[in-house]
Amino acid sequence: MVSFQLDGRTVVVTGAGQGQGAAEASMLVEAGARVVATDLAADMPAGLGALASASAGALVYRQLDVADASGWTGLADWVHAEGWQVDGLVNNAGITQRSRLLDVTVADVQRVYEVNVAGALLGIQALTPLMKSGASIVNVGSVAGLTAHYPVAYTASKWALRGLSQVAAMELGPRGIRVNTVHPGFIEAPMTASAKPEFREATLAETPQGRTGSVEEVAGVVLFLLSPLSAFVTGAEIPVDGGQSGHGGAKSVSDALR
Ligand SMILES: NC(=O)c1ccc[n+]([C@@H]2O[C@H](COP(=O)([O-])OP(=O)(O)OC[C@H]3O[C@@H](n4cnc5c(N)ncnc54)[C@H](O)[C@@H]3O)[C@@H](O)[C@H]2O)c1
Repeated sequence: MVSFQLDGRTVVVTGAGQGQGAAEASMLVEAGARVVATDLAADMPAGLGALASASAGALVYRQLDVADASGWTGLADWVHAEGWQVDGLVNNAGITQRSRLLDVTVADVQRVYEVNVAGALLGIQALTPLMKSGASIVNVGSVAGLTAHYPVAYTASKWALRGLSQVAAMELGPRGIRVNTVHPGFIEAPMTASAKPEFREATLAETPQGRTGSVEEVAGVVLFLLSPLSAFVTGAEIPVDGGQSGHGGAKSVSDALR
């Protein structure tokens, strides 16, 4: 039987308290991994409690603000002291900021960049010393990073994350460490729960599959990229978006001519 072969492997997931990160943590535990779930809260977020108690120690929770370099150093020291290596890192934590081009401030851009870009960079810098050949890093981008998505600070940050991912894939390849990116479209998660109805409707109109995605549908692709089943995949970018980014704006033309 083909398996994801994550037994005995340790994976760090950021922003794991809810949404996609929690789904990733849950699926990884199910696939046999030991998961270090991290998020901003000091105590284990409610959404992870049941999973942690059912996991027989396979899921542990640590507080981590990804924008805080000393927090990453502390996490790396703790993992090392536990006697573990790191086999996987999911840079999932992210924030959005919905100001438009002529209203956004430099402070907005910097704050989003600190979390969405510098957070992933700090994670790579802190944890790659604990990785051996065969380890895998997954960065969570967005269709915003493939398009001219309207929230400019968020969009710019996700484009920047693509650049970081490609440099990391190139530099870490010789060490046997893979780096890939997933680009979710509209996923039902707390982040999108606050989106305007107009945003939901307009996005659905641009999505060939005609529906939103679930957190599990993103987690499945992340799991594949962390597993040895994707051993020759690095520097790849996989949209998980129901086709939203693939048509390059041609869907409205196609729809108009039906
Ligand atoms: N939901 C979507 O439709 C969607 C679409 C495209 C991309 N994404 C990306 O997917 C990732 C997960 O999004 P989600 O929808 O699950 O969002 P979410 O808001 O539901 O969850 C994000 C998690 O990240 C945590 N977080 C925020 N700032 C942090 C920080 N500085 N340090 C550590 N943790 C922090 C939050 O506490 C939260 O638990 C993000 O990178 C987001 O940009 C989401």
